[in-house]
Amino acid sequence: MHTEYLKEGNLQAPLCVDCHGSHDIQPITQMRTQISQFCAGCHASVHTSYQSSVHGVAVEENNSPDAPTCVECHGAHDVRGPRQASFRYESVEVCANCHQTRR
Ligand code: HEC
Ligand code: HEC
Ligand code: HEC
Ligand code: HEC
Repeated sequence: MHTEYLKEGNLQAPLCVDCHGSHDIQPITQMRTQISQFCAGCHASVHTSYQSSVHGVAVEENNSPDAPTCVECHGAHDVRGPRQASFRYESVEVCANCHQTRR
């Protein structure tokens, strides 16, 4: 989605450096609790909701390795969103990856 928006001329969509930085790049293994912060800069209201959700509290406050950050649901480099029919359809599977018994 981000690349599509860039191609359409939306200069607010992120490049590598918007998420990873340029001179201060950090190893991925050390940043799970911070991933949602990468996205928060541009998606502040979504992040506010996420932060107080059962998933956000588990990741950001309790460093849970099991609860989802933004990228388990949307992808990181292949960000998908609800304007795509495929994302809506597959969102059931996204939840079921971790909540198998509710499927
Ligand atoms: C929207 C934010 C975002 C953008 C834009 C982005 N990344 Fe990432 N990247 C992440 C996140 C979050 C992770 C860790 C989670 C994952 O790997 O799924 C990651 C992981 C990585 C990794 C380590 C894991 C791997 O897949 O090898 C590398 C290397 C990387 N990114 C390079 C890049 C490069 C190069 C670009 C530009 C072409 C880029 N990223 C653009 C968010 C982003
Ligand atoms: C530098 C700003 C920036 C960053 C950082 C960023 N985004 Fe985005 N994102 C955008 C813009 C601009 C759009 C185009 C739609 C809009 O304006 O909301 C977009 C669109 C999206 C969409 C599609 C929404 C829709 O309705 O079409 C999703 C999903 C999304 N981003 C998720 C993420 C996630 C997950 C991360 C972090 C890994 C992230 N974004 C980081 C700027 C950013
Ligand atoms: C548990 C899975 C999940 C997580 C975690 C998650 N999202 Fe979403 N997100 C969704 C689903 C599903 C939708 C579509 C909702 C709908 O259609 O009503 C969505 C919608 C969106 C949209 C477009 C609609 C809007 O409200 O603007 C954006 C942008 C977005 N998410 C970004 C993010 C960011 C940034 C994070 C992390 C702070 C995040 N999401 C975390 C599943 C998730
Ligand atoms: C990466 C794995 C993962 C994904 C993907 C995921 N969840 Fe979760 N979810 C968890 C974990 C772990 C918890 C428990 C968090 C805690 O409190 O420690 C949880 C908790 C919940 C709860 C609260 C359950 C209770 O007993 O109170 C609900 C409801 C929920 N998730 C719904 C969803 C929905 C809907 C989606 C898809 C849009 C989704 N989850 C995607 C891992 C995931």
